[in-house]
Amino acid sequence: TSATHAFTVEHATNPLDDATREAALENPKFGSHFTDHMAIVSYTAARGWHDAKICPRRPLMLDPAASVFHYGQEIFEGMKAYRTQHGDIVTFRPRENARRFRDSARRMAMPELPETLFMQSLESLMACDHAWVPQGRGQSLYIRPFMIATEALLGVRPAREYQFIVIATPAGNYFDKACVDIWVTEHFARAAMGGTGAAKCGGNYAAGLMAQREAAEQGCDQVLFLDAATRQYVEELGGMNVVFVRDDNTLVTPRLTGTILPGITRDAITTIASYLNLAVEETQIAIDDIFEGAQSGRYREAFACGTAAVVSPIGRLKRRDHIVSFGDGESPGPVTSSILENLTDIQYGRKPDPYGWVE
Ligand code: COI
Repeated sequence: TSATHAFTVEHATNPLDDATREAALENPKFGSHFTDHMAIVSYTAARGWHDAKICPRRPLMLDPAASVFHYGQEIFEGMKAYRTQHGDIVTFRPRENARRFRDSARRMAMPELPETLFMQSLESLMACDHAWVPQGRGQSLYIRPFMIATEALLGVRPAREYQFIVIATPAGNYFDKACVDIWVTEHFARAAMGGTGAAKCGGNYAAGLMAQREAAEQGCDQVLFLDAATRQYVEELGGMNVVFVRDDNTLVTPRLTGTILPGITRDAITTIASYLNLAVEETQIAIDDIFEGAQSGRYREAFACGTAAVVSPIGRLKRRDHIVSFGDGESPGPVTSSILENLTDIQYGRKPDPYGWVE
């Protein structure tokens, strides 16, 4: 395949009118409105990546035997475009998303999308849909690149045809409350060693839905998974990583063992920690130790982190009939607040970006 893939552009003939779009941007509910266009690139084993285009966002035509429907070859990414105070539109570490997308593709026996094509798809889509990037505090345009196996095939083998697609949705706060409550599931596990836990594939999220339902039945906002083998150690939340703040100014988070998603927000936080005089421990975390430490005050704060969740303070943890809270359980602690502020200052261009993350 050639190094450059110019995108052909077919503009939407009836884009949403300005007033309706502005109304959708005012208080966007995550993932419920979509921009006018999408990017699509096709792949076949014979031709490689080809036919890169931007077109009006519309339903796909797929053969009912397309292997994504049967054996689940699907991967995705999540990233955000921010409107800075100067009016520019920037993205945060998009090349990290491109790299993780290639890692996920490899794990799911799918073709790897070159970084240049990933970046060009974002740029070409943003050129058409830039008016959809909201400007309110904490708001952004969430970009969802994904890849599906489209070959009509019921034989179980890697498909030979794929589509890479990018859609986008305006986003505000992922959770509708200041602090979230977390249910620790012991019935369900998310991923085992050797499985797909480190890949961003749709199946991981489908596998988590029953546990998320269990959490909701317990009055909680999110589920926390323990390791599949022993159910003693903390892994991650239903759709984001988890970090605990110990009283010796240390961020404690599960290490990447192959069963949890290597979050880009997680990585950014562990990087800016030193600037905030916080130590970082990526380690095996016993859930019993967290409950004990929350009770004794050794663990004062905890938060969920991810592209969609950004930094969301955790109020309470519930396991069986045991509940512990961090701080007063209702308001974010100082370390969590300072991490949120410092991270978003870089993302929204309110402070210089010493790491080269914003582009
Ligand atoms: C993200 O944070 O980008 C995700 O993909 C997680 C999902 C719960 C929205």
